[in-house]
Amino acid sequence: MTSQIIPVDPFDCIVFGGTGDLAERKLIPALYQRQRGGQLSEPTRIIGASRSPMSDDDYRKFAENAIKEFVKPTEFDQKQVDQFLARLSYVAVDATSDNGWEELKTEIGNDTKRVRAFYLAVSPSLFADISSRLKSYKLVHDHTRIIVEKPIGRDLQSAIALNDTIGHVFHEQQIFRIDHYLGKETVQNLMALRFANALYEPLWNSAHIDHVQITVAESVGLENRAGYYDTAGALRDMVQNHIMQLLCLVAMEPPASMDADAVRDEKLKVLRSLSPITSKNADELTVRGQYRAGASSGGAVKGYIQELEHPSNTETFVAIKAEIANWRWAGVPFYLRTGKRLASRASEIVVSFKPIPHSIFGEGAGRVVANQLVIRLQPDEGVKQWMMIKDPGPGGMRLRHVPLDMTFAESFTARSPDAYERLIMDVVRGNQTLFMRRDEVVAAWQWVDPILKAWAETEQPPAGYTAGTWGPSAAIALIERDNRTWHEPE
Ligand code: BG6
Repeated sequence: MTSQIIPVDPFDCIVFGGTGDLAERKLIPALYQRQRGGQLSEPTRIIGASRSPMSDDDYRKFAENAIKEFVKPTEFDQKQVDQFLARLSYVAVDATSDNGWEELKTEIGNDTKRVRAFYLAVSPSLFADISSRLKSYKLVHDHTRIIVEKPIGRDLQSAIALNDTIGHVFHEQQIFRIDHYLGKETVQNLMALRFANALYEPLWNSAHIDHVQITVAESVGLENRAGYYDTAGALRDMVQNHIMQLLCLVAMEPPASMDADAVRDEKLKVLRSLSPITSKNADELTVRGQYRAGASSGGAVKGYIQELEHPSNTETFVAIKAEIANWRWAGVPFYLRTGKRLASRASEIVVSFKPIPHSIFGEGAGRVVANQLVIRLQPDEGVKQWMMIKDPGPGGMRLRHVPLDMTFAESFTARSPDAYERLIMDVVRGNQTLFMRRDEVVAAWQWVDPILKAWAETEQPPAGYTAGTWGPSAAIALIERDNRTWHEPE
């Protein structure tokens, strides 16, 4: 089975931070892939904008190198690369002064019918400068869109301020707040599983589900991002956005349609139903950790503090027991965990169903294990529904726990696109379903802020864990206190 590509209308994408890390690793490769997939129409243009002067040709060389480095060699097609590079140009622009803005305006031209997407792949501290200059240089028209990356603020107050800043120039329908987890293939498949099958929805509630686990485990450490990461930590970096968005998709009520606001209204209700975690219960419901020296991917690695070269209480691991106080989910814990330098890179959502009420099988048949739906985000995307079946053969009745495997790589011949490919095309189409609405960002911070406050009030440093393990022992205790265990990613 292959997927169908529908070309998008021609557009201009202006990437601020056009020579930065995100552009190099994700945006240029993603746009190239869409070129290769035949989705870009003429005359689509991509304009890199950064502070340092650079010729168009040098920018094209930069882009070609990015494609060589971040696209699989088998997907490097020189003819397609050349066609893609012909779309590129570069303008040196200073976000904090008027330098380069007239040149940018000239480069963009004045076609007000074509979609114009400004991608702010820069520090949020530049959002205000850039958006106000976009306005004063009259670069914003009805078909203009702005794409912003997380972090949207570092707490509720700063998120509101940042949203206000952008909101002064753009209407909400023009603002695309990226959470790249929403562009991941399996994350969207979660919606297909829930809402395109009659099987799950009747069981999708506290009567049949025992608990849910969401794990986003990384094996990498700081990756030269110390400046940002040490001021953020795992709660702000991963939980406030990616993990909470996953939680929303698992827990939301069926929206009336895939219309952006229909979906986002339902996600918002989940965020607003989360039971508060404050200094009264943070000790019992949250665990913060920080990695110590250990081993990862077969080699010895430094601890967080050694990598950082100064003391820090920033958490590189979080585990949380969250509760959603509504009719569907009351009493069903959602165990969330994420961390750097964990045992492997593995992200998954595990929906554990309740055990059968009574076993008719004798002891010789073996234990009847409760059903589990395991939605694997990465690597090896796929979905497994774990079931009990009879062990085949003429012997007595022996039961076996086996997965019904819907692993995509085996079922579909199409390559799995990177999240950014899907999301950028959605911006061009004007489809906001997979982007965070302003009130969602605010509601997520409203839940996270009291946790940050509770942690700030304790004198306790984060619990240490050895790099290459599954986090501090307190995280294991968090779930085992409830007679449950973390699902060990395969
Ligand atoms: C980013 C975080 O949003 O997501 C990073 O800032 C993290 O710290 C990354 O490494 C993980 O993304 P992915 O797609 O590799 O799981």
